[in-house]
Amino acid sequence: MAAPGVLLLLIHGCAVLAVELSTSNQNPVVEEYQSVELSCIIKSTTTNDPRIEWKKIRNDETSYVYFDNTIQGDLKGRAKIQSKSSLVILNTSRSDNGKYRCEVAAVDDSKKIDEINIFLTVKVKPVAPKCTVPKSVPVGKSAALHCQENEGYPSSLYSWYRNSDPLPNDSKTNPKFLNSSFTLDPKTGTLTFSAVSKGDMGRYYCIASNDAGSAKCDEQVLEVCK
Ligand SMILES: *[C@@H]1O[C@H](CO)[C@@H](O)[C@H](O)[C@H]1NC(C)=O
Ligand SMILES: *[C@@H]1O[C@H](CO)[C@@H](O)[C@H](O)[C@H]1NC(C)=O
Ligand SMILES: *[C@@H]1O[C@H](CO)[C@@H](O)[C@H](O)[C@H]1NC(C)=O
Repeated sequence: MAAPGVLLLLIHGCAVLAVELSTSNQNPVVEEYQSVELSCIIKSTTTNDPRIEWKKIRNDETSYVYFDNTIQGDLKGRAKIQSKSSLVILNTSRSDNGKYRCEVAAVDDSKKIDEINIFLTVKVKPVAPKCTVPKSVPVGKSAALHCQENEGYPSSLYSWYRNSDPLPNDSKTNPKFLNSSFTLDPKTGTLTFSAVSKGDMGRYYCIASNDAGSAKCDEQVLEVCK
């Protein structure tokens, strides 16, 4: 066996002996309950058995995901290591959203540590939004219809329908709604009438949607009285 001093000299004599990581996808996106690979590829190392660890970083808190050759914590039983250093989550949940770090320590390399961050997005379908429609509004008065759900990720955008016709974001932009005066904020789901007219009477419902899907609330009747 070579003396430690000799080994060290040999290592420092060669510039390419550095552990180096790469990934096939730094920003994977998956639907909840599907499987996803967090790719971490060891591009180069001269160490036979480098130490591989995965951590999750959330709100500045770091927790182990893979440590001591074992899946840890919340991912136990639904994740595995694939191709030596990639992490596969078999059944993602919304709580898996966040930043993950693959860290590889290769003791025999001159640069002994490398790490790579992976940003995982788990998309969640919206649930049926909660809609509030006033029962009866006098002609000329203002009114607000609300639509909201909080499960969807990324956050839902909202659209409103009257008698099954989609409403524009601003009634002024469409001659079909000439006699109306409403605006819709697609981010908050609120449909605001500055002055209700007779023609605004009807059956209203709203749809919440995002990349993962959409959901609607039950239709409700808005009456317009004198
Ligand atoms: C995935 O996890 C959910 C709970 O988060 C569970 O209801 C479902 O059965 C799991 N699916 C599979 C295929 O294991
Ligand atoms: C309303 O605005 C949203 C976002 O600004 C847009 O995606 C949507 O297509 C608009 N809806 C209509 C009916 O114009
Ligand atoms: C607007 O109101 C006028 C007068 O009541 C009516 O004749 C017309 O048909 C209405 N237009 C629309 C697009 O509803």
